[in-house]
Amino acid sequence: MDRAVSETIEYIRGFFSKDFSGHDYYHSMRVYKTAVRIAEKEGADTRTVALAALLHDVDDRKLSPETEKTKANAAGFLRNIGENEETVSEIIKIIGEVPFLGTDSGRPTSKEACCVQDADRLDAMGAIGIARTFAFGGSHGRAIYDPEIPPVLFMNGEEYKNRVSHSVNHFYEKLLLLKNMMNTGEGKALAEKRDAFLREFLEEFYSEWSGES
Ligand code: ADP
Ligand code: NI
Repeated sequence: MDRAVSETIEYIRGFFSKDFSGHDYYHSMRVYKTAVRIAEKEGADTRTVALAALLHDVDDRKLSPETEKTKANAAGFLRNIGENEETVSEIIKIIGEVPFLGTDSGRPTSKEACCVQDADRLDAMGAIGIARTFAFGGSHGRAIYDPEIPPVLFMNGEEYKNRVSHSVNHFYEKLLLLKNMMNTGEGKALAEKRDAFLREFLEEFYSEWSGES
């Protein structure tokens, strides 16, 4: 394994050791593995994809709002391990293109960013996505579900960021939109399966909620 990649894995292991909101070390490792797998199929640069995927959440607005704009954690770390300025800017640019921002979500401008964005979104879908949604909701004091409060569709970036609701609404406000937002062929294929699992989960959830099963 590339030395920079293994050093980055060690860095994020320490960085995320106290997070229980769904942004943990294992999330970053899954995004890294999926992103590299997509990159191999897409012919993208796997080293750049690996570093960007591993570092994509270290300046996340929820965990580190003070460095969200500058990406100081990722940039500082990369400089420390001897990466040149060109690589640092390339990786920072990719990380900036990853977040989901409702109807303001942009299409990534490089092949590498497409791989990292797809991988991050895939981890918000399927069985893992369900687990992360309820973990996030619980850690923010939110209800599992409230049938009196319907989802809000077509939110822009600001509305999405400020939205506070129960966790089932998050499926409609983000998770079920991701399948049609994939950038790569491999991402789309993986998203189909994970989207179907989300829908199956919701069907069973409502059936148990209403006492039908
Ligand atoms: P990511 O790391 O995938 O970019 P976020 O930073 O948006 O995701 O959030 C971390 C996890 O928590 C994701 O699985 C996401 O779908 C989930 N999540 C984000 N916002 C909410 C919310 N309002 N309610 C429930 N889960 C959420
Ligand atoms: Ni993430």
